[in-house]
Amino acid sequence: MNVSDPAVPDPTGQQQAQPIDDRVNNRSQRPTSEAFKASMASGWAPAEGSLPGRDAVAEHAARRRRAISDRFPGERLVIPAGPLKVRSNDTDYRFRPHSAFAHLTGLGVDHEPDAVLILEPVDEGTGDDGGHHSATLYFRPLAGRDTEQFYADARSGEFWIGARPTLAELEARLGIATAHLDGLEAALTKGVGAPAIGGISVRLVRKVHEDLDALVDTARYNTAQDPESLDLSVFDALDDQLAEALSELRLVKDEWEVDQMREAVAATAAGFEEIIRALPRAVAHRRGERVVEGAFFARAREEGNDLGYETIAASGNNATVLHWIRNNGPVREGELLLVDAGVEAESLYTADVTRTLPVSGTFSEVQRRVYQAVLDAADAAFAAAQPGVKFRQVHAAAMEVLAARLEEWGILPVSAQEALSDAGQQHRRWMPHGTSHHLGLDVHDCAQARRELYLDGELAPGMVFTIEPGLYFKAEDLAIPAEYRGIGVRIEDDVLMTADGPVNLSAALPRTPGDVEAWMASLR
Ligand code: GLY
Ligand code: MN
Ligand code: MN
Repeated sequence: MNVSDPAVPDPTGQQQAQPIDDRVNNRSQRPTSEAFKASMASGWAPAEGSLPGRDAVAEHAARRRRAISDRFPGERLVIPAGPLKVRSNDTDYRFRPHSAFAHLTGLGVDHEPDAVLILEPVDEGTGDDGGHHSATLYFRPLAGRDTEQFYADARSGEFWIGARPTLAELEARLGIATAHLDGLEAALTKGVGAPAIGGISVRLVRKVHEDLDALVDTARYNTAQDPESLDLSVFDALDDQLAEALSELRLVKDEWEVDQMREAVAATAAGFEEIIRALPRAVAHRRGERVVEGAFFARAREEGNDLGYETIAASGNNATVLHWIRNNGPVREGELLLVDAGVEAESLYTADVTRTLPVSGTFSEVQRRVYQAVLDAADAAFAAAQPGVKFRQVHAAAMEVLAARLEEWGILPVSAQEALSDAGQQHRRWMPHGTSHHLGLDVHDCAQARRELYLDGELAPGMVFTIEPGLYFKAEDLAIPAEYRGIGVRIEDDVLMTADGPVNLSAALPRTPGDVEAWMASLR
């Protein structure tokens, strides 16, 4: 509808307003003539014919699906990739699929908006790899060059955003049956109902795609024996158990995943070198932290898919702000620059590394003292991290070192021993975060795993996690001697547990004060 269109009836007798949703097209108008449509739908070369080979990840993703199948025989499992997300008005963020979807399909980068993986329960032994389910990937395949979608859909048409995969292409790459998104609703809702009366129980990874949450809720409601007295919390519990199982499935990485982590860490190391090279420009710029952030980001986009999380580029007192991602401060000679940054590989696995650099290339005496304490805490955490040791022991080992050092410096108001007791914890004022978290597709991976498998779980070969103690002395902290104020230090490494103990995946990035100084000198 258009305000200038005389065909629009106007019940008020005044000029009819154009509906809000139509106004997005006011800046330009696609021609509607038949001649234009005929022109756009013809005269294009046919799409390439040959199919791609199988992705290396496919066999690993199949094993993961099989493991989840064993957990939930007889139930339909729904794992969405999620929709495109609006950044502003008609501009979307780059697409990134949900991590559980990436894990079970093996898809990375921008694959595939609105896609959904369904594991459909089948008769015993007839499923994929002899399991209890057969998998189908529903997605919006590449539209032919003779279709309107090709040229008229700015969110998915090849003319606008480039080619997307066809059904046959993704099936060849992943070894998963594929189907058009048009069939999704039927596949999702077919036969849903209480198992007691022959219906199929559905479990959904919720809060990924609102439309699917609504679709599944409606199907559950409509097929309930007594919808009015339906207890929805029963369904929440089903969905929560699926989220938990998918999170726990990622606690131990397979070989392919470890290779991806190594790739992400290598790209991250290259990004840190760019940061050191950019330091003279950062010091000269009024927003030097942005120069640092940008130097890393450029490398992240060149080598990988993106950042795994927003870079923290924090100089001077900003280094004491744990989630400093504003990054709009200056970088001054004499300060410490804390950079927490990770490249996300094309597979979506991310590194998570922090280095704290003396901007002028050498640590002052007090900076070195604080840095060495953090390094000693990290080394103690590495020494504690062994297969069979509880995850929480890694943190405890780091805290013992930091509490002792704070006592030595006269900062702790009580003894280190008292601070380390449950009733104390005074040292946490200066080290308020955890020392370790699992790492993988999400920077804080396996977040829905049960506590008994995470914090209270035992370290096992194949686990990948961080060791990242720090000390943060804010400029405005009157509880510490003045010489410490405005100093923030964190050293964060990415660790692979093996049967022989921990391997520091980020060891290529110098850690000791002397090695950091030499590294910086070599790149400047
Ligand atoms: N960069 C987030 C973290 O270190 O946990
Ligand atoms: Mn971390
Ligand atoms: Mn970090």
